[in-house]
Amino acid sequence: MKRIKVIAGNWKMHNDNSAAQQLASQIKIRTTDIKKTDIILCPPFTALTVVHDVIKDTRIGLGAQNVYWEKSGAFTGELSADMIKSSGAAYVIVGHSERRQYFGETDETVNKRTKAALEAGLKVILCVGESLDQRESGITANVVEAQVTGGLSGLTSEQMEDIIIAYEPVWAIGTGKVATPEQAQEVHAHIRGLVEKLYNSDVAAALRIQYGGSVKPDNADSLLSQPDIDGALVGGACLKAETFVPIIQSAEKL
Ligand code: 13P
Repeated sequence: MKRIKVIAGNWKMHNDNSAAQQLASQIKIRTTDIKKTDIILCPPFTALTVVHDVIKDTRIGLGAQNVYWEKSGAFTGELSADMIKSSGAAYVIVGHSERRQYFGETDETVNKRTKAALEAGLKVILCVGESLDQRESGITANVVEAQVTGGLSGLTSEQMEDIIIAYEPVWAIGTGKVATPEQAQEVHAHIRGLVEKLYNSDVAAALRIQYGGSVKPDNADSLLSQPDIDGALVGGACLKAETFVPIIQSAEKL
């Protein structure tokens, strides 16, 4: 089965509404010839509707960077999946390593957010990845297995159609130290094998697994041409159309 490549830009805490409008417009203008690759922009919450207005008549998708699991109530500062959906977003990133590292995210809360997002009809980009210490101690596979199993706990095969997994080794995020294509491929294949065990071979074959961590125009080709790498979750390089669009073009020509 040929999986459609998916390139997502995680804008993190960058871009006020005016900068967001400009960046989304530049990406829109430069991607009119992209016909196969899925593109997703994930601006901060405040810019979701602004970016939605720019891209609504294109095939570019919109995603949020987090979601809370309750539907409504006294949860100051939080946003429900329905609220995110009503901003025009179709996707949400869950379990990013920065949320795990700085905001106490656990596999259990990742799972609650994932379920709430899916129930509201959002698609989820579920992030997993090991730290440098964990890689050096030789426990990468165990760490990633626990994160994938915990994050997906209780999901049906049908719900798996709305899941994208992003493998983002923490040591490669924002460091300029990219995983080699072989290192990334090894973990991607491992994740796919695990999903086959947890579900079945059809679910595993259809699942898209993105790589994230210092993806740039000059390393995109070699990463994206690996058999189990189905796209990229891009941080730094997604903040400029000049560096984000070439990554999309790399995916498009494969
Ligand atoms: P960088 O591309 O800046 O390393 O960030 C990757 C990332 O965290 C995307 O979610």
